[in-house]
Amino acid sequence: MYHPPRLPSPLSRIPNAHWSAPFSRLWILWVRFVRNENRTLYSAHRRLGPIIRVGPNELSINDLESVRTVYQGAFEKPAWYSVFDNYGVPCMFSAHPAVEHSARKRLISHVYSKSYIQSSATASAQARVILFERLLPILEDSVAESQLPHGIDIYSVFMAATMDFIASFIFGLSNGTNFLGDKAYRDHFLEQYKARNDYGYYDQEMPQLTRFCRKLGCFDQPVVWNALVNGLQNEEAKNGQASILYPTALSNLKLSVASELFDHVLAGQETAGLTLTYLSWRLSQSLELQAKLRGELLSLSPNMQLDEDGTPAMPDAKQLDSLPLLHAVLTETLRLHAPIPGAQPRQTPESGCRIGPYRVPGGVRIAALAYTLHRDESVFPEPEKWDPTRWLPSCAGEEDRKRRNKQFWAFSSGGRMCIGSNFAMHGELSIAEVTFVTRSQQESHIVDDDGMEQSDGYTGRPRNEELFLRFEKVVGKQHQPPSTACK
Ligand code: HEM
Repeated sequence: MYHPPRLPSPLSRIPNAHWSAPFSRLWILWVRFVRNENRTLYSAHRRLGPIIRVGPNELSINDLESVRTVYQGAFEKPAWYSVFDNYGVPCMFSAHPAVEHSARKRLISHVYSKSYIQSSATASAQARVILFERLLPILEDSVAESQLPHGIDIYSVFMAATMDFIASFIFGLSNGTNFLGDKAYRDHFLEQYKARNDYGYYDQEMPQLTRFCRKLGCFDQPVVWNALVNGLQNEEAKNGQASILYPTALSNLKLSVASELFDHVLAGQETAGLTLTYLSWRLSQSLELQAKLRGELLSLSPNMQLDEDGTPAMPDAKQLDSLPLLHAVLTETLRLHAPIPGAQPRQTPESGCRIGPYRVPGGVRIAALAYTLHRDESVFPEPEKWDPTRWLPSCAGEEDRKRRNKQFWAFSSGGRMCIGSNFAMHGELSIAEVTFVTRSQQESHIVDDDGMEQSDGYTGRPRNEELFLRFEKVVGKQHQPPSTACK
């Protein structure tokens, strides 16, 4: 029988990250399985340039023009994100069709805008309770002599603080969590949360094989749960309405709301907790920088110190926004320790598209990652160095800072960019950092930072998921005046 010659793939002109990439996914699947994707792609981009092929139908990109094409161009998310459905129902983060996604985003984006966060009396009142009644007592207690030698696990404290922040904003203070006040419950939650980390791989990377194996019963299964949920869903499909057995439990509206809010809680808690952990670790390595930051923060009025009548006073959100050193230390932490350093996959539109000099057909998985964008030496010299001065107007030229801002990708970009970036930057991160550095007049020292290197994957956690710091009163030490000295 005659077989027409097979045309070379339109992707064949693109440099291969591995010799097997044009024929098989095995190499990239293995790299992901052993959690080495970010580092491997970083070294491949350095060798081969900004657009590389990592599998027969998969590309990785590392230049701003391609990032703009894909992410500003609203390329759809692939089914890879379905593992982020909650209760079997998509949320904004996991929704595939752009129309469904943008309809959801329109409903809620205003409450996460910078102006809303900065002027919200509710958010500010919630922050006061979380900071003054929960976080500060923990930090102040830790100064007590008896706790000095072993310090406190600040990772656990910040994971609790960020959960309390986001849960209060979403559900109200009285319905939110009190993880700061309830260590046992917090530890239980974090343990459960950690347990799910290993389960995404097969569903995300080999969904068909995984479904097949499930049918064969290769994986452990919740038998009664499956029977009940499938039965109720079938009944709902048959009758066109929720089951009379459980009329509300499976109501689409309720599940949809629950899925959305659960996603915000998870998305908002871990990312911000990781940022605060890495920031406090870096600051604890430089007492001089801590002192400069304390000087800048104490120059605010009010500045977290007690008012004349003895009530604690929160700094003004807009004033906080204008502090160069605070902004620089936060941004540099999000650059070097991006909480989501890994690939954010999208797929090329059916009609195909142009990526750099290449014509790419439809349905190709394509991704950029903060890990590699944030280590581009032409934009961030000595990329592995944590150096906040890169962002300071007094130290770096305007052109350099503009290029760095454009390349900064901790919150992604385009229509699927993080909805909580303002809540994080202008709400919880700044305000928690101010508390950490100023209010209780203490400087932080490292007790045990073993295992702080970030895991390689979609989310970057410290390997040991703990960081022990101790605090010393800065009594008698002079506060440095605000300074933007470069080194
Ligand atoms: C330092 C803090 C944070 C960082 C670094 C961060 C980072 C990101 C990134 C990189 C994405 C895009 C991921 C992708 O497309 O694969 C994203 C999306 C998202 N983030 Fe965040 N995030 C942070 C805080 C928050 C907070 C506080 C919330 C609370 C609401 C939140 C909610 C979301 C949601 C709902 C999306 C999906 C947006 C969409 O699909 O349109 N994030 N975030």
